[in-house]
Amino acid sequence: MQSWIPFLPEQASTVAARVDGLYFYLVGLTLFFTVLIVSVIIFFVVKYRRRAPFEVPRPIAGSIKLETLWSVIPFLIAMSIFVWGASVYFIQYRMPNEAGMTEIYVVGKQWMWKFQHTTGQREINELHVPVGRKVKLTMTTEDVIHSLYFPAFRTKADVVPGRYTNLWFEATKPGRYHIFCAEYCGTNHSGMIGTVVVLSQTDFDNWLSGNANQQSPVAAGQELFTTTLGCASCHNADGSGGRGPALTGLFGKSVQLSGGSTVTADEAYIRESIINPQAQLVMGYQPIMPTFKGQLSEEQLLHLVAYIKSLSPAQSSGLETTAPARSNDPQPGTTTPGASSMDSQRSNPVSVTPPSARQPGNNNSNTAAPSRGNQNRR
Ligand code: CUA
Repeated sequence: MQSWIPFLPEQASTVAARVDGLYFYLVGLTLFFTVLIVSVIIFFVVKYRRRAPFEVPRPIAGSIKLETLWSVIPFLIAMSIFVWGASVYFIQYRMPNEAGMTEIYVVGKQWMWKFQHTTGQREINELHVPVGRKVKLTMTTEDVIHSLYFPAFRTKADVVPGRYTNLWFEATKPGRYHIFCAEYCGTNHSGMIGTVVVLSQTDFDNWLSGNANQQSPVAAGQELFTTTLGCASCHNADGSGGRGPALTGLFGKSVQLSGGSTVTADEAYIRESIINPQAQLVMGYQPIMPTFKGQLSEEQLLHLVAYIKSLSPAQSSGLETTAPARSNDPQPGTTTPGASSMDSQRSNPVSVTPPSARQPGNNNSNTAAPSRGNQNRR
């Protein structure tokens, strides 16, 4: 489906109209001044042309009025672009603090997009989302920088090696829309494309249940934590701590480091603590944790992060006061019923998923292999 302008993608998210409004304002401004300046040039070329071979033009003195005018008007125009642009930017890139957002994990890889839902469903180069619900993406990449781009949603964000970036959108109409990679990433960059399928809530629920019986990220993370990697020998199976710091209730809290500084336990902190445990050593603990660098795929890291997040179910105490306005905090400061019900949804599969229900292809056991060897495909 096309919009009324042939080259413009459809508007299919809550921010699309705002982005387009700003875009047309800029195009309009540019057109207006292009026409104005070119006409004035032509007019002056004709009006002030040399009429006689030795003509001397009249001397021109300055004009305060004119100079003020051509300073103030462009300043006001530039500020209008700034204020409008900043407001759209903040709407688009500040994570809404809402309970019950649909969370999706994204891993970019030369040359495909891998998505995983909190309920476990995996997708490659295709993403199913419900209409009218805010969707939060937690994203990273296994290799180089890519950029996840939804033209119809008018939003995109880079995925950066070793870092988590977040993106959110709310689709406004069901349909199938493009997914692009918007950052040149090698030979098949142009083929790193996909489709986002926006479904009504009912259809989405049907799709989810039709693709069930895949291990959820939390369950996969727990398996890594307790069995595969043996994290539990220091942090305890329930995360209550031991030789290593307690992980229960950790997420979103402020952590005192041995250097005296503090850090908020967000996704990035957890990731860093797994990859490079000595970088941010918790006060009062010995630097005994081995690094897991090169042993885990980005998806496994996301699973561990999801599991450790699930150990902080209520997220009620102090999150808002210790971590104000952090864009990558999930549902901060929520004591609403929606939050706890969602968290229980997320952590329930941990206890109820029998090993037999797990996919045979979901191979988390070869952790000694270098990271390239054990990427989970579906
Ligand atoms: Cu990935 Cu371009």
